[in-house]
Amino acid sequence: MWSRIKEDINTVFAKDPAARTWWEVITCYPGLHAIWMHRIAHALWKRRFHWLARFLSHINRFLTGIEIHPGATIGRRFFIDHGMGVVIGETAEIGNDVLMYKGAVLGGTSLEKGKRHPTIRDGVVIGTNAVILGPITIGENARIGSGAVVIKSVNPDSTAVGVPAREVRGPHVERERLSFQLQHAQLPDPLAEAYRQLEERIADLETQMRTLGAMHSRASESEAHPQVVADAGG
Ligand SMILES: CC(C)(COP(=O)(O)OP(=O)(O)OC[C@H]1O[C@@H](n2cnc3c(N)ncnc32)[C@H](O)[C@@H]1OP(=O)(O)O)[C@@H](O)C(=O)NCCC(=O)NCCS
Repeated sequence: MWSRIKEDINTVFAKDPAARTWWEVITCYPGLHAIWMHRIAHALWKRRFHWLARFLSHINRFLTGIEIHPGATIGRRFFIDHGMGVVIGETAEIGNDVLMYKGAVLGGTSLEKGKRHPTIRDGVVIGTNAVILGPITIGENARIGSGAVVIKSVNPDSTAVGVPAREVRGPHVERERLSFQLQHAQLPDPLAEAYRQLEERIADLETQMRTLGAMHSRASESEAHPQVVADAGG
């Protein structure tokens, strides 16, 4: 147990440059307190003391501002920096060495009882206020940008940002870019595009010329034979 506590404290030093002393870390890091309390709540949950586990997690939330359902599975060296507003759902699974910032949510999208929360693999970083929804998987060492809303699984070693989140970095993105580059037929051709625009403009001008020509010939005809044109017009 002491070795785990030591490991947790060392994790804070490794992941927060603002941490200075052991005493400061032990007393001033709600992310750390939340993990410790969750471990007890999770052990109670597994032994089917459901109410007690929920109540402890409720106290945890009251003291730290971090809401972790006692059923959530969390690996080693997990660190929540700042913490306030974090929500981790019942069927969420978090691997080792995950870093999460304030306001991050691992939420469900269904009212079904089964697996409905995300799985976060080892080494993932989840930015502040990022929301990850549903039974999706965030691959190893992926990075979720602050404020992202993630509704699809994210590939390992990738960065996903935005609402809804899309991958902007990583092997998957590089592969897509490369496959696009290799499809020579799809390469953009600025010269062909300029010709296409010119053709459109010429066709447009031709139509206008024809309309003007027709108007002009009608006007000349009505000047030459005013009565015939008036009769034809009815
Ligand atoms: C996503 C993040 C992890 C950076 O990952 P990265 O792989 O190094 O990505 P980059 O910085 O190279 O950015 C990749 C692209 O995403 C954009 N981007 C980065 N973070 C973004 C965000 N949160 N929202 C929207 N776009 C973002 C960048 O502008 C860049 O766009 P470009 O390719 O058009 O230039 C980082 O930006 C982030 O959000 N970290 C969270 C930190 C945090 O929450 N701190 C709070 C402490 S309380």
